[in-house]
Amino acid sequence: MAFTKVCTLQNIPENKGLKVENGEASVAVFKVNGKVFAIQDLCSHGLWSLSEIGYLEGDAVVCPLHMGKFCVHTGKVTSLPPNRPLKKYPALVEGEDVYVAFDEGYIAE
Ligand code: FES
Repeated sequence: MAFTKVCTLQNIPENKGLKVENGEASVAVFKVNGKVFAIQDLCSHGLWSLSEIGYLEGDAVVCPLHMGKFCVHTGKVTSLPPNRPLKKYPALVEGEDVYVAFDEGYIAE
């Protein structure tokens, strides 16, 4: 698994996502209770950028366009209208640095 350094913990805004890209995938990283999660940046409903317009409500990512919600841990839909989950990406933190494995995106079962 190839992890790429994408940012530091301080770069990730409170209750919002930070878009990170590697040319193939656009990923939004979120911080919840000191842990970092990486999910596909585009809402599966209307392809809006969750890092730009979305926000955290507990451990749910809210897309305010139609108030769809996704679990930040799994990428699964927790509130309609979206009916497709978001891709998840492995993420890890070393010291202050945040890493994402862009080539390991998957849909959680
Ligand atoms: Fe995200 Fe509709 S575009 S919920």
